Amino acid sequence: MNINITKTTKSRITYINFDKLDFGRVFSDHMFVMAYQNGTWQQPSIEPYGSITFEPSMMALHYGQAVFEGMKAYHANDKTIHLFRPKDHHKRLNNSARRLCMPEIEESVFIEGLEELLKLDSAWVPKTHGHALYIRPLMFASEEYLAAKVSEEYQFFIITSPVAAYYSEGFNPVSLTTSENFVRAVKGGTGEAKAAGNYGGSFLPAKKAQEIGYTQVLWLDAIEHKYVEEVGTMNIFFLMDNKLVTPQLSGSVLPGITRRSVIALAKEWGIEVEERQISIDEVFDAHKNGTLQEIFGAGTAAVISPVGHINHKGESITLDREKIGPFAKKMFDAITDIQYGKIDDKYGWIHPVTLV
Ligand code: COI
Repeated sequence: MNINITKTTKSRITYINFDKLDFGRVFSDHMFVMAYQNGTWQQPSIEPYGSITFEPSMMALHYGQAVFEGMKAYHANDKTIHLFRPKDHHKRLNNSARRLCMPEIEESVFIEGLEELLKLDSAWVPKTHGHALYIRPLMFASEEYLAAKVSEEYQFFIITSPVAAYYSEGFNPVSLTTSENFVRAVKGGTGEAKAAGNYGGSFLPAKKAQEIGYTQVLWLDAIEHKYVEEVGTMNIFFLMDNKLVTPQLSGSVLPGITRRSVIALAKEWGIEVEERQISIDEVFDAHKNGTLQEIFGAGTAAVISPVGHINHKGESITLDREKIGPFAKKMFDAITDIQYGKIDDKYGWIHPVTLV
Protein backbone atom coordinates (compact mmCIF):
# COMPACT_ATOMS: atom_id res chain seq x y z
CA MET A 1 0.00 0.00 0.00
CA ASN A 2 1.23 3.45 -0.86
CA ILE A 3 0.78 5.99 1.94
CA ASN A 4 1.62 9.64 1.28
CA ILE A 5 3.62 10.73 4.30
CA THR A 6 4.05 14.36 5.30
CA LYS A 7 6.10 14.70 8.46
CA THR A 8 5.63 17.53 10.92
CA THR A 9 8.36 20.16 10.91
CA LYS A 10 7.83 20.91 14.60
CA SER A 11 7.14 18.09 17.03
CA ARG A 12 5.00 19.03 20.05
CA ILE A 13 6.42 16.25 22.21
CA THR A 14 8.68 18.54 24.24
CA TYR A 15 5.58 20.32 25.63
CA ILE A 16 4.07 17.11 26.97
CA ASN A 17 4.44 16.14 30.63
CA PHE A 18 4.45 12.34 30.44
CA ASP A 19 4.21 12.16 34.26
CA LYS A 20 0.85 13.90 34.24
CA LEU A 21 -1.26 12.47 31.45
CA ASP A 22 -4.95 13.20 31.42
CA PHE A 23 -6.81 10.53 29.38
CA GLY A 24 -7.25 11.60 25.76
CA ARG A 25 -6.18 15.21 26.21
CA VAL A 26 -3.00 15.38 24.12
CA PHE A 27 -2.33 13.93 20.69
CA SER A 28 0.78 12.69 18.96
CA ASP A 29 2.36 14.52 16.04
CA HIS A 30 0.71 12.64 13.17
CA MET A 31 -2.60 11.16 12.06
CA PHE A 32 -3.62 8.64 9.41
CA VAL A 33 -6.25 9.96 6.99
CA MET A 34 -8.24 8.25 4.24
CA ALA A 35 -11.30 9.43 2.31
CA TYR A 36 -14.07 7.34 0.72
CA GLN A 37 -15.47 8.82 -2.48
CA ASN A 38 -17.07 7.50 -5.67
CA GLY A 39 -17.63 4.11 -4.07
CA THR A 40 -14.05 3.44 -3.04
CA TRP A 41 -11.38 4.32 -0.48
CA GLN A 42 -8.85 6.80 -1.84
CA GLN A 43 -5.12 6.80 -1.34
CA PRO A 44 -4.31 7.16 2.38
CA SER A 45 -1.94 9.67 3.88
CA ILE A 46 -0.20 10.36 7.15
CA GLU A 47 -0.14 14.04 7.99
CA PRO A 48 0.71 16.31 10.91
CA TYR A 49 -2.07 16.07 13.52
CA GLY A 50 -4.34 19.07 13.21
CA SER A 51 -7.69 20.60 12.39
CA ILE A 52 -9.90 19.46 9.57
CA THR A 53 -12.46 21.59 7.79
CA PHE A 54 -16.02 20.64 6.94
CA GLU A 55 -19.31 22.35 6.22
CA PRO A 56 -22.12 22.41 8.80
CA SER A 57 -24.15 20.24 6.41
CA MET A 58 -21.76 17.29 6.92
CA MET A 59 -24.01 14.28 7.43
CA ALA A 60 -22.28 12.74 10.47
CA LEU A 61 -23.24 15.82 12.47
CA HIS A 62 -26.91 15.41 11.64
CA TYR A 63 -27.56 11.68 11.50
CA GLY A 64 -24.80 10.21 13.63
CA GLN A 65 -23.23 7.89 11.07
CA ALA A 66 -19.98 7.60 13.02
CA VAL A 67 -18.14 4.60 14.48
CA PHE A 68 -14.83 4.26 16.28
CA GLU A 69 -12.42 1.89 17.97
CA GLY A 70 -10.26 2.14 21.07
CA MET A 71 -7.03 0.20 21.13
CA LYS A 72 -3.58 0.56 22.65
CA ALA A 73 0.13 0.32 21.84
CA TYR A 74 2.71 -0.50 24.52
CA HIS A 75 6.42 0.16 24.87
CA ALA A 76 8.10 -3.28 24.97
CA ASN A 77 11.69 -2.11 24.48
CA ASP A 78 13.51 0.64 22.61
CA LYS A 79 13.15 -1.26 19.34
CA THR A 80 9.66 -2.72 19.68
CA ILE A 81 6.15 -1.45 20.20
CA HIS A 82 3.34 -3.90 20.91
CA LEU A 83 -0.09 -3.46 19.42
CA PHE A 84 -2.69 -5.49 21.33
CA ARG A 85 -5.06 -7.55 19.18
CA PRO A 86 -5.24 -5.03 16.29
CA LYS A 87 -6.87 -7.54 13.94
CA ASP A 88 -9.70 -8.05 16.42
CA HIS A 89 -10.17 -4.29 16.62
CA HIS A 90 -10.19 -4.11 12.83
CA LYS A 91 -12.87 -6.81 12.65
CA ARG A 92 -15.00 -5.02 15.22
CA LEU A 93 -14.62 -1.71 13.37
CA ASN A 94 -15.94 -3.35 10.21
CA ASN A 95 -18.81 -4.95 12.15
CA SER A 96 -19.72 -1.52 13.52
CA ALA A 97 -19.41 0.02 10.04
CA ARG A 98 -21.73 -2.62 8.55
CA ARG A 99 -24.36 -1.91 11.21
CA LEU A 100 -24.26 1.81 10.38
CA CYS A 101 -24.28 1.17 6.61
CA MET A 102 -20.72 2.45 6.21
CA PRO A 103 -17.94 1.05 4.01
CA GLU A 104 -15.54 -1.54 5.40
CA ILE A 105 -11.78 -1.11 5.46
CA GLU A 106 -9.33 -3.75 4.31
CA GLU A 107 -7.32 -5.37 7.07
CA SER A 108 -3.99 -4.69 5.33
CA VAL A 109 -4.78 -0.96 5.03
CA PHE A 110 -5.73 -0.74 8.70
CA ILE A 111 -2.67 -2.65 9.93
CA GLU A 112 -0.12 -1.02 7.63
CA GLY A 113 -1.54 2.42 8.37
CA LEU A 114 -1.19 1.75 12.09
CA GLU A 115 2.34 0.43 11.72
CA GLU A 116 3.51 3.45 9.74
CA LEU A 117 1.86 5.85 12.15
CA LEU A 118 3.46 4.15 15.14
CA LYS A 119 6.90 4.12 13.53
CA LEU A 120 6.64 7.89 12.98
CA ASP A 121 5.31 8.64 16.47
CA SER A 122 7.14 5.93 18.43
CA ALA A 123 8.52 8.53 20.88
CA TRP A 124 4.92 9.19 21.96
CA VAL A 125 4.46 5.67 23.37
CA PRO A 126 4.85 6.15 27.13
CA LYS A 127 7.55 4.04 28.82
CA THR A 128 5.96 3.91 32.27
CA HIS A 129 4.31 0.60 33.18
CA GLY A 130 0.55 1.13 33.18
CA HIS A 131 0.74 3.89 30.60
CA ALA A 132 0.19 3.37 26.86
CA LEU A 133 -0.48 5.07 23.58
CA TYR A 134 -4.25 5.02 23.16
CA ILE A 135 -5.24 4.63 19.51
CA ARG A 136 -8.52 5.97 18.23
CA PRO A 137 -9.53 4.89 14.71
CA LEU A 138 -12.74 6.66 13.68
CA MET A 139 -14.95 6.81 10.61
CA PHE A 140 -17.72 9.29 9.90
CA ALA A 141 -20.09 10.32 7.11
CA SER A 142 -18.62 13.35 5.37
CA GLU A 143 -21.05 14.02 2.55
CA GLU A 144 -22.55 17.50 2.73
CA TYR A 145 -26.25 16.84 2.33
CA LEU A 146 -29.32 17.11 4.55
CA ALA A 147 -31.33 14.17 3.21
CA ALA A 148 -31.73 11.51 5.94
CA LYS A 149 -30.07 8.71 3.99
CA VAL A 150 -26.83 6.78 3.79
CA SER A 151 -23.88 9.07 3.07
CA GLU A 152 -21.86 8.43 -0.07
CA GLU A 153 -18.67 9.91 1.37
CA TYR A 154 -16.68 9.07 4.49
CA GLN A 155 -13.49 10.06 6.27
CA PHE A 156 -11.37 7.60 8.22
CA PHE A 157 -8.79 8.82 10.73
CA ILE A 158 -6.44 7.19 13.18
CA ILE A 159 -5.29 9.53 15.93
CA THR A 160 -3.22 8.58 18.99
CA SER A 161 -2.90 9.90 22.52
CA PRO A 162 -0.45 8.97 25.31
CA VAL A 163 -2.51 7.98 28.37
CA ALA A 164 -2.37 6.89 31.99
CA ALA A 165 -5.34 5.34 33.85
CA TYR A 166 -8.81 6.01 32.43
CA TYR A 167 -10.67 6.55 35.68
CA SER A 168 -9.46 9.22 38.10
CA GLU A 169 -9.72 6.51 40.79
CA GLY A 170 -6.72 4.83 39.11
CA PHE A 171 -6.55 1.38 40.64
CA ASN A 172 -8.96 2.18 43.45
CA PRO A 173 -12.40 0.64 43.10
CA VAL A 174 -15.02 2.58 41.16
CA SER A 175 -18.63 2.80 42.31
CA LEU A 176 -21.57 2.12 40.02
CA THR A 177 -25.28 2.72 40.12
CA THR A 178 -28.03 1.22 38.03
CA SER A 179 -30.42 3.67 36.38
CA GLU A 180 -34.16 3.41 36.87
CA ASN A 181 -35.16 5.69 34.02
CA PHE A 182 -32.60 5.28 31.29
CA VAL A 183 -31.36 2.44 29.10
CA ARG A 184 -28.19 2.22 27.01
CA ALA A 185 -29.23 -0.16 24.25
CA VAL A 186 -31.81 -2.69 23.22
CA LYS A 187 -31.41 -5.86 21.19
CA GLY A 188 -31.66 -4.97 17.51
CA GLY A 189 -30.36 -1.45 18.19
CA THR A 190 -26.75 -0.31 17.88
CA GLY A 191 -25.51 -1.38 21.33
CA GLU A 192 -23.16 -4.05 20.04
CA ALA A 193 -21.57 -1.63 17.57
CA LYS A 194 -19.04 0.95 18.66
CA ALA A 195 -21.28 3.72 17.39
CA ALA A 196 -20.61 7.28 18.52
CA GLY A 197 -24.29 7.81 19.38
CA ASN A 198 -24.22 5.03 22.00
CA TYR A 199 -21.86 7.18 24.03
CA GLY A 200 -23.63 10.52 23.49
CA GLY A 201 -26.88 8.95 24.68
CA SER A 202 -25.28 7.75 27.90
CA PHE A 203 -23.89 11.12 29.01
CA LEU A 204 -27.04 12.41 30.73
CA PRO A 205 -27.52 9.26 32.86
CA ALA A 206 -23.76 9.22 33.60
CA LYS A 207 -23.90 12.87 34.67
CA LYS A 208 -26.83 12.11 36.99
CA ALA A 209 -24.90 9.16 38.44
CA GLN A 210 -21.86 11.35 39.04
CA GLU A 211 -23.98 14.03 40.71
CA ILE A 212 -24.97 11.49 43.37
CA GLY A 213 -21.42 10.23 43.84
CA TYR A 214 -21.07 7.31 41.41
CA THR A 215 -18.37 6.89 38.80
CA GLN A 216 -20.57 5.33 36.09
CA VAL A 217 -23.88 3.65 35.35
CA LEU A 218 -24.19 -0.14 35.49
CA TRP A 219 -26.58 -0.68 32.61
CA LEU A 220 -29.45 -3.16 32.92
CA ASP A 221 -31.33 -4.68 30.00
CA ALA A 222 -33.80 -2.35 28.32
CA ILE A 223 -36.85 -4.68 28.40
CA GLU A 224 -37.09 -6.11 31.90
CA HIS A 225 -34.68 -3.73 33.60
CA LYS A 226 -33.42 -6.74 35.45
CA TYR A 227 -30.34 -8.23 33.80
CA VAL A 228 -26.88 -6.69 34.00
CA GLU A 229 -25.40 -5.68 30.63
CA GLU A 230 -22.24 -3.54 30.81
CA VAL A 231 -20.87 -0.24 32.05
CA GLY A 232 -20.62 1.60 28.71
CA THR A 233 -16.89 2.19 29.06
CA MET A 234 -16.20 -1.44 30.02
CA ASN A 235 -17.70 -4.93 30.28
CA ILE A 236 -18.45 -6.30 33.74
CA PHE A 237 -17.35 -9.48 35.56
CA PHE A 238 -18.45 -11.05 38.83
CA LEU A 239 -16.35 -13.60 40.69
CA MET A 240 -19.00 -15.62 42.51
CA ASP A 241 -18.59 -18.94 44.23
CA ASN A 242 -15.17 -19.25 42.54
CA LYS A 243 -16.78 -18.94 39.10
CA LEU A 244 -16.33 -15.99 36.77
CA VAL A 245 -19.71 -14.77 35.54
CA THR A 246 -20.22 -12.14 32.85
CA PRO A 247 -23.29 -11.09 30.85
CA GLN A 248 -23.55 -12.96 27.56
CA LEU A 249 -23.26 -11.01 24.31
CA SER A 250 -26.97 -10.54 23.94
CA GLY A 251 -26.97 -8.18 20.98
CA SER A 252 -26.99 -5.02 23.09
CA VAL A 253 -23.61 -5.48 24.79
CA LEU A 254 -20.34 -4.37 23.21
CA PRO A 255 -18.18 -7.44 22.42
CA GLY A 256 -15.13 -6.23 24.34
CA ILE A 257 -11.70 -7.39 23.27
CA THR A 258 -10.36 -7.13 26.82
CA ARG A 259 -13.50 -9.07 27.86
CA ARG A 260 -12.53 -11.86 25.47
CA SER A 261 -8.95 -11.84 26.78
CA VAL A 262 -10.15 -12.08 30.41
CA ILE A 263 -12.35 -15.07 29.56
CA ALA A 264 -9.49 -16.84 27.75
CA LEU A 265 -7.04 -16.31 30.62
CA ALA A 266 -9.52 -17.33 33.32
CA LYS A 267 -10.33 -20.56 31.44
CA GLU A 268 -6.65 -21.30 31.10
CA TRP A 269 -6.26 -20.89 34.87
CA GLY A 270 -8.95 -23.53 35.34
CA ILE A 271 -11.65 -21.09 36.43
CA GLU A 272 -15.16 -21.93 35.31
CA VAL A 273 -16.47 -19.06 33.17
CA GLU A 274 -20.18 -18.49 32.63
CA GLU A 275 -21.36 -16.12 29.91
CA ARG A 276 -25.03 -15.88 30.72
CA GLN A 277 -27.85 -13.67 31.88
CA ILE A 278 -27.17 -12.40 35.38
CA SER A 279 -29.81 -10.41 37.20
CA ILE A 280 -28.94 -7.55 39.51
CA ASP A 281 -30.92 -9.41 42.21
CA GLU A 282 -28.62 -12.42 41.82
CA VAL A 283 -25.62 -10.15 42.40
CA PHE A 284 -27.19 -8.64 45.53
CA ASP A 285 -28.23 -12.11 46.79
CA ALA A 286 -24.72 -13.44 46.24
CA HIS A 287 -23.39 -10.54 48.30
CA LYS A 288 -25.92 -11.29 51.06
CA ASN A 289 -25.05 -14.98 51.22
CA GLY A 290 -21.31 -14.35 51.05
CA THR A 291 -20.57 -15.93 47.65
CA LEU A 292 -19.81 -12.66 45.82
CA GLN A 293 -16.03 -12.40 45.91
CA GLU A 294 -15.07 -9.67 43.45
CA ILE A 295 -16.49 -7.37 40.80
CA PHE A 296 -14.41 -5.75 38.10
CA GLY A 297 -14.75 -4.11 34.71
CA ALA A 298 -12.64 -4.81 31.64
CA GLY A 299 -12.05 -2.58 28.65
CA THR A 300 -9.28 -1.15 26.50
CA ALA A 301 -9.23 2.24 28.18
CA ALA A 302 -10.03 0.96 31.67
CA VAL A 303 -7.94 -2.29 31.38
CA ILE A 304 -9.11 -4.02 34.61
CA SER A 305 -10.96 -1.73 36.94
CA PRO A 306 -12.14 -2.98 40.34
CA VAL A 307 -15.72 -2.16 41.36
CA GLY A 308 -16.14 -1.53 45.09
CA HIS A 309 -19.72 -0.43 45.33
CA ILE A 310 -23.03 -0.91 43.47
CA ASN A 311 -26.25 1.00 44.12
CA HIS A 312 -29.56 -0.34 42.85
CA LYS A 313 -32.83 1.42 43.72
CA GLY A 314 -31.38 2.85 46.92
CA GLU A 315 -29.97 -0.45 48.17
CA SER A 316 -26.28 -0.90 47.92
CA ILE A 317 -23.53 -3.42 48.25
CA THR A 318 -19.97 -2.64 49.20
CA LEU A 319 -17.34 -5.27 48.80
CA ASP A 320 -15.28 -5.92 51.91
CA ARG A 321 -12.05 -4.67 50.55
CA GLU A 322 -11.86 -1.09 49.39
CA LYS A 323 -9.05 -1.99 47.04
CA ILE A 324 -8.49 -4.30 44.09
CA GLY A 325 -9.30 -7.96 44.79
CA PRO A 326 -6.67 -10.69 44.29
CA PHE A 327 -8.33 -12.16 41.19
CA ALA A 328 -8.72 -8.79 39.43
CA LYS A 329 -5.11 -7.95 40.34
CA LYS A 330 -3.89 -11.28 38.95
CA MET A 331 -5.87 -10.61 35.76
CA PHE A 332 -4.53 -7.06 35.45
CA ASP A 333 -0.95 -8.31 35.92
CA ALA A 334 -1.36 -11.13 33.39
CA ILE A 335 -2.89 -8.91 30.71
CA THR A 336 -0.44 -6.05 31.16
CA ASP A 337 2.55 -8.44 31.33
CA ILE A 338 1.51 -9.83 27.94
CA GLN A 339 0.92 -6.33 26.57
CA TYR A 340 4.33 -5.03 27.67
CA GLY A 341 6.07 -8.24 26.57
CA LYS A 342 7.10 -9.25 30.09
CA ILE A 343 5.73 -12.74 29.59
CA ASP A 344 5.32 -14.87 26.49
CA ASP A 345 2.27 -14.27 24.38
CA LYS A 346 0.97 -17.80 23.75
CA TYR A 347 -2.21 -16.46 22.25
CA GLY A 348 -0.98 -14.43 19.29
CA TRP A 349 -2.51 -11.28 20.80
CA ILE A 350 0.59 -9.15 20.33
CA HIS A 351 1.38 -7.56 17.00
CA PRO A 352 4.95 -6.27 17.29
CA VAL A 353 6.03 -3.16 15.40
CA THR A 354 9.77 -3.09 14.93
CA LEU A 355 11.44 0.31 14.94
CA VAL A 356 14.52 0.94 12.84
C1 COI B 1 -12.26 2.06 25.08
O1 COI B 1 -12.14 1.35 26.08
O2 COI B 1 -11.39 2.13 24.23
C2 COI B 1 -13.43 2.89 24.88
O3 COI B 1 -13.75 3.14 23.77
C3 COI B 1 -14.15 3.41 26.06
C4 COI B 1 -14.25 4.90 26.16
C5 COI B 1 -12.96 5.64 26.35
C6 COI B 1 -15.14 5.52 25.16
